[in-house]
Amino acid sequence: METIIFRCLCHINKNRTLRRFLKKARQDGCFISKKSFLFNPLCIHLGLRVAIEDFSSLRCYIQTAGGSYSPNIFIGHDSVVGEGTRIYSAGDLSIGANVIIAANCFIINYNHGFDLNTKIRFGDQPLQVKPVKIGNNCWIGTKAVILPGVQIGDNCVIGACSLVSKSIPANSVVAGNPAALIKRWDPSTKSWVHS
Ligand SMILES: CC(C)(COP(=O)(O)OP(=O)(O)OC[C@H]1O[C@@H](n2cnc3c(N)ncnc32)[C@H](O)[C@@H]1OP(=O)(O)O)[C@@H](O)C(=O)NCCC(=O)NCCS
Repeated sequence: METIIFRCLCHINKNRTLRRFLKKARQDGCFISKKSFLFNPLCIHLGLRVAIEDFSSLRCYIQTAGGSYSPNIFIGHDSVVGEGTRIYSAGDLSIGANVIIAANCFIINYNHGFDLNTKIRFGDQPLQVKPVKIGNNCWIGTKAVILPGVQIGDNCVIGACSLVSKSIPANSVVAGNPAALIKRWDPSTKSWVHS
């Protein structure tokens, strides 16, 4: 794959932080669209040959809504973040190697607090952070939403427009809202079987 690195839109430390991030990405054979948006790029860790396509947005929130957080986003070798996909993190969020994330997906690892026993508005209550993990060799269909706390095993397919609110075992195809198992890999027949 030809490596082209553009200056991407970057919210903070436009100069040194972004230059350092892009230099490493370039050395690692990554493609980062100049139309992507990276918020706190020092918390974003890319493997080799990762592609971040147009209008995608990777955001790590260190200080926001009612507190301080330790966010990260790890993306493994040869994975693709499709056009317009948003990945928001206030804690641990990892995506394996060889993962295809189609266009316009949303992956998030926190909820706003929404306790009514306090007079604090939701936007100022501490975030409830729940780690998200996506295994290796997964394919996330377009417009899928992955909610906080979800762990997706290796070799999974998430159908287009699915809402994933619960963890998914390895070698599964899930779809729908909420996402439900539609197929699983059967090692004895070496084929996907409907469930
Ligand atoms: C999940 C997917 C891969 C399954 O494909 P498939 O194996 O051909 O699926 P099938 O046609 O055998 O569907 C099995 C059942 O799941 C349902 N189903 C499939 N995809 C679904 C989806 N995204 N949402 C809800 N239901 C879905 C089918 O309607 C079918 O239901 P039925 O058994 O009641 O008839 C495919 O439907 C899909 O969503 N692909 C994503 C496409 C995409 O986003 N591409 C981006 C390119 S990077």
